[in-house]
Amino acid sequence: MNYTFRYTGTGIIFGWAFVFAAWAIDLLIVGLMPTPANIIQIHINNPVIFIVDMAPIVLGISFYYFGKLYQRLYNQYSEAQNSRARFTALMDSAFDAIIIIDDHGLVTDYNAAAEAIFGYKYREAVGKDLAALIIPHRYREAHNQGLKAFLETGKGPLIGQRVEIEALHHDGHEFPAEVAIEKFNILTNDSSDSAFVGFIRDITERKDAAAKLIQASKLSTLGEMATSVAHELNQPLNVIRMAAGNSWRKISKGTATYEYLNAKLERIEEQTVRASAIIDHMRMFGREANEELEPINARAVVTNALSLMGEQLRLAGIEIVTKFSEDCLLILGHSIQMEQVILNLLTNAIDAMAESEGEKKITLRVFKDDKGVHITAEDTGSGIPEDILPRIFEPFYTTKEMGKGTGLGLSVSYGIINDMNGIIVVDNIDGGARFTITLPSVS
Ligand SMILES: Nc1ncnc2c1ncn2[C@@H]1O[C@H](COP(=O)(O)OP(=O)(O)OP(=O)(O)O)[C@@H](O)[C@H]1O
Ligand SMILES: [Mg+2]
Repeated sequence: MNYTFRYTGTGIIFGWAFVFAAWAIDLLIVGLMPTPANIIQIHINNPVIFIVDMAPIVLGISFYYFGKLYQRLYNQYSEAQNSRARFTALMDSAFDAIIIIDDHGLVTDYNAAAEAIFGYKYREAVGKDLAALIIPHRYREAHNQGLKAFLETGKGPLIGQRVEIEALHHDGHEFPAEVAIEKFNILTNDSSDSAFVGFIRDITERKDAAAKLIQASKLSTLGEMATSVAHELNQPLNVIRMAAGNSWRKISKGTATYEYLNAKLERIEEQTVRASAIIDHMRMFGREANEELEPINARAVVTNALSLMGEQLRLAGIEIVTKFSEDCLLILGHSIQMEQVILNLLTNAIDAMAESEGEKKITLRVFKDDKGVHITAEDTGSGIPEDILPRIFEPFYTTKEMGKGTGLGLSVSYGIINDMNGIIVVDNIDGGARFTITLPSVS
């Protein structure tokens, strides 16, 4: 039964009991029995009794309002209890660290996962400045400025976004973390204050796994590049051998002039520099990437990749067409990883055109528009069948025979471009496939 009826009903029953008792007492005082005729008679004799008859209504209404008030308070109390219980269950069972801070940056709540991830106990964290606890020293100032700017303007780059940051553990080591921050308002006596809840996930393992994949794919690309590299190294070696041989012959005949020998030694030196540059590049390419993002020239990346792959492309009888814009084509990224992406696209194009009878051509374009810097690679390898198109960026998806493809090339490339805040897409064009990479341009 609904509480309105319950409380009003109780009030009315009490009211009537009160009225009947009043009538009975009145009648008994004057020595009469409380019969209906006597009751009517006392109403006629004494009109004040009519007022007493209002008691059921007055009590009914007051019971109704008291009941309603009680019910409301009880509901609020149990709602507060329930939401506290839900909040505690949520905080305790979350896999991600959940940290709540007030508008001064002080921690007000901190869950069990946060204890495990950051190494501080609840009581050590609550009430402390968040920046001093978990933000590496070099980012603290930026964090405080960001919080201040947000409170002043209501705008902040991190709110409502998922971002990767470096976080600090209690023991001093830093680790990569993914953070999502939301803002909410808490009511105080006379106003409402901002508070922030941060969901933080330790992504060390994910990063390691991604780095291992990148490395695995890179090593397989390195293997595929062996022919090109051997050729690249062979050229300076040949030049050195010839210069040394000629000098030696002239010296043994006694016809070597100072100028002649000088020129030959200079040439030898030049060529060793070239050979060691190639070796350095290979070494750098093979090394596990640990670089910071830095401005790199998209045109230079494509040119470097082409020079590493040049001989292979020539052997495969592929014509290379390059259309590079003269604009400033700076992007923010890792040059070696970017090169790896272009090499993956080139190897895929070579494979796609291996069997083709017709024209074998790769067209590489680098240009800029208001969406950013674009790098496109088009081939004439008859394109990608529609049914496999949605799958080619999946890890380990390959249509190549065992031992030929690992299916990592495109998935790794996708990850690299994604990490640089860019996108890579594919479409089929007339007679081939076109991959387009778009990255934010840096001015
Ligand atoms: N240019 C292209 N033309 C036609 N098909 C392509 C092209 N690029 C990629 N593909 C298809 O996408 C698949 C996945 O490519 P991905 O580079 O990820 O792996 P893979 O080349 O098979 O192996 P890996 O690159 O690891 O040696 C390829 O097996 C191929 O079927
Ligand atoms: Mg590939």
